[in-house]
Amino acid sequence: MRFGCKLGLRILEDLQSSSFCVTAMAVNQLVLASNWSLTGGGALTVAASSSDVQVCSTLASAKSLRFVQELHGQGLKNGAGVGGSSHRSTTSVAARTRRRSRRSRRRFSDDGDGDELAALRISCVSTSEASTASDSGSDSKLPLKAIPGEYGGTLGAIKDRLDFFWFQGLGEFFTSRVQKYQSTVFRVNMPPGPPGFPDPRVILLLDAKSYPVLFDVNKVLKKDVFTGTYHPSWDYTGGVRVLAYLDPSEERHTQLKTFVFEILKTNGRKFLPEFHKAISESFQVWESNLAKGEKASFTDENLQFAFNFQMRAIVGRDPVAPGPASLGRNGGAYAQKWVAPQIAPVTGLGLPHLLEELTFHSFPLPFSLVKKEYDALYAYLSTYATEVVDLATKLGIDKHDAINNVLFFTCFNSFGGFGILLPQILRAIAQGGSSLQQELVREVRAAVNANGGSVTMKGLESMELVKSVVWESLRINPPVPYQYGIAKSDFVIESHTAAFQVKKGEMLAGFQPFATSDPVIFQDPHTFLPKRFVGPEAEKLLPYVIWSNGPETGEPTLGNKTCPGKDFVVAMSRAFVAELFLRYDEITLAPPDGDGIAAKIAFSSLKRAQ
Ligand code: HEM
Repeated sequence: MRFGCKLGLRILEDLQSSSFCVTAMAVNQLVLASNWSLTGGGALTVAASSSDVQVCSTLASAKSLRFVQELHGQGLKNGAGVGGSSHRSTTSVAARTRRRSRRSRRRFSDDGDGDELAALRISCVSTSEASTASDSGSDSKLPLKAIPGEYGGTLGAIKDRLDFFWFQGLGEFFTSRVQKYQSTVFRVNMPPGPPGFPDPRVILLLDAKSYPVLFDVNKVLKKDVFTGTYHPSWDYTGGVRVLAYLDPSEERHTQLKTFVFEILKTNGRKFLPEFHKAISESFQVWESNLAKGEKASFTDENLQFAFNFQMRAIVGRDPVAPGPASLGRNGGAYAQKWVAPQIAPVTGLGLPHLLEELTFHSFPLPFSLVKKEYDALYAYLSTYATEVVDLATKLGIDKHDAINNVLFFTCFNSFGGFGILLPQILRAIAQGGSSLQQELVREVRAAVNANGGSVTMKGLESMELVKSVVWESLRINPPVPYQYGIAKSDFVIESHTAAFQVKKGEMLAGFQPFATSDPVIFQDPHTFLPKRFVGPEAEKLLPYVIWSNGPETGEPTLGNKTCPGKDFVVAMSRAFVAELFLRYDEITLAPPDGDGIAAKIAFSSLKRAQ
């Protein structure tokens, strides 16, 4: 069921013209996560110590989060399976994660029961299944408990949705339930929901121990769950089910992921030079604006360079250059508009709550709202991406399929992701103030001087602080905060304190910022520590940085759902920090316009390197 096109258009116009940040529309459920960690408790705040700068993310629900911490602490004190110290638990969970990932790689080709499982989701599961771990056939030493929480039918789904978007907000929605159920694993309805969306019931995983089951494609089916319990109409992608929605058991997944890997490999050498060129254009805009006393908007320029550099590198044609299918300076804005209605069902857009609830939180938005933008992006790729299409043809992928997949991963996965990640990195660095920035300046310039005078992969690899800052940003605010998967069979999952029986066909979901702020793994988990990943600590902690839908120590493969752009994203984020401090001695930001990641960010000063 869809609501009227006119109303939809009105909302979209409001959405685009409101102070709502452009980036907030750009990626899978991101606004919500950001509101949880940034808006929820106010802005990032700085807690500078003598030698190390700490940027603290103060959380609205800090009290509840402390409770989560205590809950884990309780588990430790009780010796409930995680060892007596966070170090020991880290090592043992890391080893298990590695074993699981090896098993997963070995067995991926055995899958094949996808359709049957998708149908299974309609069966309701009793919440009273309680037994012992040994009864369940699991080797868990933890007590087997019934998964707490209830769904409550249609009314329950609406109540949960209102709590999520309105009465409680994101942080409180999760933490109040952790508190109520005394568990980081529980049943709940996740938005969107009735009447216009399918089954919202999930088993939610909120700790670092249970969460990785979502990466295990032997255990969970990743079919059509990219955006959550719903998927947008395939009209948004020309009738094509693009890679992000495919399970590795589907042959097309292998074919299309090979295509993406090949595109990245073929164009790898172009990325750093194109990024340098694109961000240098933005440097000039900012400097010129500041010189004239005008606003130097990072948010607006991010739209330009994050879109243009990847298109120049992948398509080989500047989207701004004049021509029959030129996008001018609208490429980023078109991509954003095209993504917006796809994620609107799980996004709070700052419109009156009642309006949001009665419209896009309850019914899907029609593709016709953004057909114009899609057509322009399609025409650009169809006209100029000839080499990419040739590559696809060699792999047996037809042109329409290829164009829609490239459109999706450049405009949704990549552009959307950078639209969230780069502002977060920038804000954390700005909050770090002069001492952090001076250290970055020293490190970046020494590495660049030692590597031929420009930003190179080798130079980036040697920048320990830059690397740590990027990983810490990805840890504390993973740009895609949710993952979903449908249980392929009955199995037992473990939190730090208990084991739970999951039934075949049940939907599992995770809110990643909880898993990556798990106090069992990370000390001072809600504080942005720029040096957290410097030195030997990095090796111990990186398996728990999981922004790419897999551990940072793992690899994207044809058999898993890890982001194929994983290494590219990390490299370009490091390049962003390096380019910034190669050119500037110090940066400061104006107070944000708006809240959280939805805030528009602008520079208040840029001190050029002498
Ligand atoms: C900051 C930027 C990015 C972030 C945060 C990000 C994050 C993610 C995440 C979390 C997933 C898994 C989604 C799921 O199934 O639950 C994913 C998948 C994917 N990403 Fe990325 N990504 C980014 C950039 C890129 C880039 C640059 C590319 C292009 C190469 C890309 C292409 C894809 C594709 C094609 C998939 C589906 C993989 C599969 O089906 O096996 N992403 N990404």
